[in-house]
This record gives sequence, C-alpha cells and structure tokens, in this order.
Amino acid sequence: MRVRVEVMHGVNFDVLGRRNADHYGGLTLTELEVKIKQFARELEMEPSFSQTNHEGEFVESLHRAAEGADALILNPGAWTHYSWAIHDALEVAALPTVEVHLSAVDEREEWRRVSVIRDLCIARVQGNGVDGYREALELLRERLA
Ligand code: DQA
Repeated sequence: MRVRVEVMHGVNFDVLGRRNADHYGGLTLTELEVKIKQFARELEMEPSFSQTNHEGEFVESLHRAAEGADALILNPGAWTHYSWAIHDALEVAALPTVEVHLSAVDEREEWRRVSVIRDLCIARVQGNGVDGYREALELLRERLA
C-alpha cells in the first residue's frame, strides 16, 4: 500500500509566485505542487494537496485529515508562529507530521523562529526550498515503513 500524504499549505501560499523570490524561490503554488508530485512519484507515495487563507478551514481540514491520509506535511505559513488553534487541531489529527518551510525561518526575523506546532511534528525542515518537501516525504516514508 502506498503511503498517502496530505500536503497542507496555509495562508498566502495561493500567491506564492508573487512573494519574495529571495525567500520563496519564485515558484507558483501550482509549480511547487508539480515538483512535490514528482518527488512523491519517485518515492512511490500518494500525495494530495490543500491550501486556504482561512484558519478555521485549515483547522477543519486537520479534523478530517485522518479519513484520507496516513501522514501530513504542513506548511502553515505565518500561522506556524502563533496559531494554537492549529496546534490543537493537529493533535486531533494524530498523524505523523513533518513541518516544512521553504525559507530559512531560523535565520530570519526573531518571531519566525517560533513554531507552535513543533512539539507535534516528527521533524522540521526549513531553508531547503522545494527540496525540503522531498526530505519530508522521505522522512514520512521511513517512519511508516
Ligand atoms: C514560510 C515561512 C513563514 O514565516 C512565512 O510566514 C510564510 C512561509 C516558509 O515556507 O518559508 O508564509 O512558512
């Protein structure tokens, strides 16, 4: 059975292609997802994707996540740094999760170094751009092997 991974993108990822290319690489969300699909194909994993700018929708997707996925990759964007609601919903999801950031959050502003979901994730990948998603898929595949 292939591992089903839901890749959840949070706030402002719909306009990824218009965000600071120095931090985010200049790819659109569609281009990013094409790359992730390619990684998943190579690793024989089954990805699905979601994005929303609405915190409550993100929370509700987490409530339902276990119905269709074995594992999660979360990049909640700025919510990472302060949303305890997402923290608590991730606890409800109770799935192996990797936190991913395209940019090197630990080397940017002080407030980006905080992650309120960190304690619920098996790993945190940051600063590796698109390749960070490959790393996250590999970590989840190992975990679920
Ligand atoms: C981000 C980093 C966050 O600090 C920021 O708010 C984002 C994107 C990243 O992928 O590097 O929206 O999660």
